[in-house]
Amino acid sequence: MSFLDTFDCSDRIAVVTGASRGIGRAIALGLAEVGADVVPAARSEDALADVVEEIEERGGASLLQPTDVTDEAAVHELFDRIDGELGAVDVLVNNAGINPDDALGAPEAVEMEGYDRTLDVNLSGAFLCTKLAAERELASVLNVASVGGVVGLPRQHPYVASKHGLVGLTKSMAIDWAPATRVNAVAPGYVATELTEEAMENETLRESLLSRTPLERFAEPEEIAAPVVFLASDAGSYVTGTCLNVDGGWCAR
Ligand SMILES: NC(=O)c1ccc[n+]([C@@H]2O[C@H](COP(=O)([O-])OP(=O)(O)OC[C@H]3O[C@@H](n4cnc5c(N)ncnc54)[C@H](OP(=O)(O)O)[C@@H]3O)[C@@H](O)[C@H]2O)c1
Repeated sequence: MSFLDTFDCSDRIAVVTGASRGIGRAIALGLAEVGADVVPAARSEDALADVVEEIEERGGASLLQPTDVTDEAAVHELFDRIDGELGAVDVLVNNAGINPDDALGAPEAVEMEGYDRTLDVNLSGAFLCTKLAAERELASVLNVASVGGVVGLPRQHPYVASKHGLVGLTKSMAIDWAPATRVNAVAPGYVATELTEEAMENETLRESLLSRTPLERFAEPEEIAAPVVFLASDAGSYVTGTCLNVDGGWCAR
């Protein structure tokens, strides 16, 4: 196998959660570019249908199966349908994530409903998808964490708790499942997507985030997709149990 061939994923079937837009969409398209069949999983059917079309344009097989990662029956249905129509999943990317307004602010201002919802989607949803996918022989699991999974972030306590939890799951599952399945995380810094739209529109906050980022800019979704593709492919064959910061230097400070 040539060095470049190690990045090839044409023998892989991948599921990317939260792939109806933003970083998940970029990861799904990146995996399709290196040859994988990719099923994007999220709740918005219309947006997902567009992503399915974009995957197919890149030569990958895909399926339209709207899925809420917190709904156990729906996640079962997703993997069962993939088993029947494409084959067993090899790569799972847990990317679905939220950071809702009622989970922001000082701890005393956080609504427990917002706290629970954040943990349900970001942490329990990822655990559920991984647990059910693992009934197949997974080659690789990728968890999209955050710099908030590595260091503290003010006013984002439930989000930070969920992402630190996800990094913890990455390490413990990597130990349990080696050598058959590699489990890794990426920790993006700030990326311009719908999730960060409000922060980006606030001039003061925007400048403060930029001044905290050594590379002095926000990431494009494709800059998060590239390391995910690397970790999912055989190019990352000796990497497991790690969390790769993809943060423009945020955590180096
Ligand atoms: N943007 C950043 O700066 C940044 C930085 C660090 C980490 N991250 C992480 O990167 C991931 C993607 O973020 P993003 O910026 O691309 O956010 P985004 O644009 O808001 O996209 C979030 C995705 O998650 C899906 N989703 C939300 N709830 C879901 C559920 N219950 N079940 C299934 N899918 C669900 C959404 O689709 P539907 O609404 O259609 O379900 C959407 O596809 C998240 O885990 C986020 O925490 C983002």
